[in-house]
Amino acid sequence: MRYEISPKPLFSEAEIQNRVAELAREIDASFEYDLIAGILTGAFVFIADLSRRLSRRVPLRFIKASSYGERMTSGAVEIPESDFTPFAGKKILLIDDILDTGKTLEALVQKMKACGAAEVKTCVLLDKPSRREVPFQTDYRGFEIEDQFVVGYGMDYAENFRTLPAVFVMNPAP
Ligand code: IMP
Ligand code: MG
Repeated sequence: MRYEISPKPLFSEAEIQNRVAELAREIDASFEYDLIAGILTGAFVFIADLSRRLSRRVPLRFIKASSYGERMTSGAVEIPESDFTPFAGKKILLIDDILDTGKTLEALVQKMKACGAAEVKTCVLLDKPSRREVPFQTDYRGFEIEDQFVVGYGMDYAENFRTLPAVFVMNPAP
């Protein structure tokens, strides 16, 4: 099937920036994180924007957790155990772009805790609660959305559309 992006953004640049600033205030007021962990690749723009709005100047580490490949369905999350050693004893703010089936964040939070993380709280830009396959709730989220595939603001379809500054919906082409 061929896809095209919606003519109008689902969330404009201004809407996103306002919400990111609010989220940063919410997080700073409620969590004494001492490490930020950002999940690559889709969240790279959100991580950059949110981390600069947060007030604590703590270290930031990236984790690579691709579960999609070139498709639109979720797959397994595979990360080597040794990548988790820097998280021991830390209070971690874990940032991702989208909470979809919940498998990625569920697996990462469990692994971080198994490797001795003191506390893990999660923050996502977008939450699709109707798509959940494992029971997982995020501590912070930008927006709740319906079951639709979105691109832009770092998020891709087959590596395309990441550089769009706003969030758009992908629809089957007529
Ligand atoms: P989950 O493990 O199913 O919750 O998948 C989360 C990951 O899937 C996110 O980190 C995204 O990278 C990717 N993902 C889920 N939905 C979308 C979407 O609508 N557009 C782009 N990527 C998505
Ligand atoms: Mg991702």
